[in-house]
Order: sequence, then structure tokens, then C-alpha cells
Amino acid sequence: MPPPGSARTASPEYRLSGEIVSLTLIRPDDWHVHLRDGAMLRAVLPDTARRFARAIVMPNLKTPVRTVAEAHAYRERILAARPAGSGFEPLMTLYLTDNTTPAEIERARASAHVHAVKYYPAGATTHSDAGVTDIERCYDTLAALEAVGLPLLVHGEVTDSSVDVFDREAVFIERVLVPIVTRFPRLKVVLEHVTTADGVAFVRAAPDTIAATLTAHHLLLNRNAMFRGGLRPHAYCLPVLKRERHRAALVEAAISGSPKFFLGTDSAPHARATKEAACGCAGLYTAHAGIELYAEVFRAAGALERLEAFASLHGPAFYGLAPNRDHLTLIEAPWSVPPTIDLAAAGIADGLVPFRAGETVAFRIEGGDA
Ligand code: NCD
Ligand code: ZN
Repeated sequence: MPPPGSARTASPEYRLSGEIVSLTLIRPDDWHVHLRDGAMLRAVLPDTARRFARAIVMPNLKTPVRTVAEAHAYRERILAARPAGSGFEPLMTLYLTDNTTPAEIERARASAHVHAVKYYPAGATTHSDAGVTDIERCYDTLAALEAVGLPLLVHGEVTDSSVDVFDREAVFIERVLVPIVTRFPRLKVVLEHVTTADGVAFVRAAPDTIAATLTAHHLLLNRNAMFRGGLRPHAYCLPVLKRERHRAALVEAAISGSPKFFLGTDSAPHARATKEAACGCAGLYTAHAGIELYAEVFRAAGALERLEAFASLHGPAFYGLAPNRDHLTLIEAPWSVPPTIDLAAAGIADGLVPFRAGETVAFRIEGGDA
């Protein structure tokens, strides 16, 4: 038995009284989030900090976070932007480039604050221009990562324009990921925001060093959402939403109980005008309902009692961290998502269109004011 007050690892408390479902779980963490910087950081951080104790913070700022010194400076800006009284802990990452040195990986290992290195193929997504042009150029650096035991977080899509956008994850696995894990068998790898049945099958069959994060939006939506009654820029993200059979495979993986799959929202805020444009940015903002949306998925699949392991236990175990010690209670009680989140207070004239804008989310956090 764990001592009183320590994190419970037994099954979460789950009550079904009449029609009302409530679920108390160890406080979750977000293993993939974009917090941005400056005014946008100040605007979005409260949503993440209210739900999650910790988050793996993506390094794709306009000027990417390439060194441990830059990661430490960014961490300080995040800490300074926390709401009063928040104990939210940002877990920092480095942005892998063709020029990242093994010495930088050594410095990352020695830092208490850098937890992983993110690999964006150059040009694959938002702010990825400085990404890796050819992963073989980074093999010395990957060897250093393998040696120090820091995970490589992978945006798993090829950028080859001759490959159909819906096939880019499967082709990346075959062309890039398999060679990496074959050459570096002890390297810890997270296939971030896995979106296909192919990705799930790869992760399941791979050794325990290979895991994946799953977003709420890829669990909730298939690619029809981008074309519902017209072109929907607020359903456009990368990797792009996939067909229904892939979504079903993702849900199966999330509820499977396998420790290889854990929560990573990929919440990625873009001001409205940059999405509602002739060439709109990729990214969905989900942090305002960052745990509630997953509760919907698990509830619909009849697996709410498995949400705690997925959201609060598998991630820390993979990263070699302890689960959080406090708890959070979710209640099935719908609330309306505003059509836009006003960013004026943060000094941004434009607004942010949140996931489910103008619609409802089925769960709320107990004591929440949503
Ligand atoms: C992310 C962003 O906006 O930074 N966009 C997205 O569609 N997910 C980048 C990323 O994670 O690919
Ligand atoms: Zn992302």
C-alpha cells in the first residue's frame, strides 16, 4: 500500500450516480504542447496550467530553442507567465538541427530541465524551417542521445511532395524511423501525435523504448471534419486528420492500457487571422479543454476507468518521472465553448478560435468556472 498522501496507482475513483458520471484521477500531464512566447504565452498558459501539472513544451518558437541555454531562458519566461499560485512545471525540449552537437546533448543530460530533443523534418510543419534536412547528418547526435537516455521526439511525416499528404506518416516510418531504431536500438523514441493505424501498429510491435502520444482531436475527428459544409481551417492541423479507420485504431490504442500510448494534446494556438487565410496555419487550440476532451473519448468507448493510466501514469513512466501527487475530478456536465478567446488582455488584437468554438464539451473540471 502506498503511504497516505502519496500518488495512488490503484484504479481511479469512478462514480456513476444516476446519469452523472464523475471521475477522480491523479493529476495528468501534457506530453506535447505548444506554449509559444510573449503575449500568446501569457494568454494560453493558464489553460494548460489549470489542468496539467507538467508539460513537455515544444521548442518550435519563431527562433527555435536549439541550445540548453535557450531552453533555460525559455523556461524562465514560462515560469514568469504562470498564473499566481500555479505550480505548473514546464519540461523543456531542444530543437534538433543539422548542427546540433553531441556536446549539446551532454549539456542537456546535465540539465535538470531539459527532458527531450524534438526532431522536425525541415519544412514539415509550423516553424520547422530550421529542422533536419537529412537525419543521417544527425547520427552522431542520435548516438549521444541514445547514450545519455534522453528521448527523441519525432514529428513523423516525410516532406517529399511526391508523397500524398495522407500517406506521409506511414512513409516516414518505413523510410526514416525504421532505419533510426534499427541503428540505435536503445534510443528512446516518441512518435508524436500518431495519426494512423500504421503508426499504432509500428509502436505496438516495437520494443518498450518506442512510445507515442495521441491528441484529443485525432481521437475525436476524422478528415471529414475539414470539409463539413465547406472548408474548415479550424480543423486543419499537422499531421492532417485521417480517415475513420485510422481514428478508430487510435482510440483502440488509447484505451488499450498499453503503457506505450499517452496523452499529448499538441494544442497549438494561432491567432484567428492566420488560420482564416488563403494559406492558413496548421494547428488546433485544445488546451482550454485539454483533459475534458479525452474524457469524452474514453467515455464514448466505455473505458473511462482507463483514462488515468493514459493521462497520468504512462507518460511519467516513459520519461522516468514520478506521477503527480494531487488529483483532479472530472464531472460529466456540458459547458459551452466560447466562439473566440479574446487575446486583448494579452495585447493581441486578434482572437483565438478554440476547438469546439460555439459548441459544447461534455466534461468539466470540478470546481471549475468554465
Ligand atoms: C504545430 C504548431 O502550430 O506549432 N502545428 C500543428 O498543426 N500541430 C506544429 C506541429 O506540432 O506540427
Ligand atoms: Zn506539435
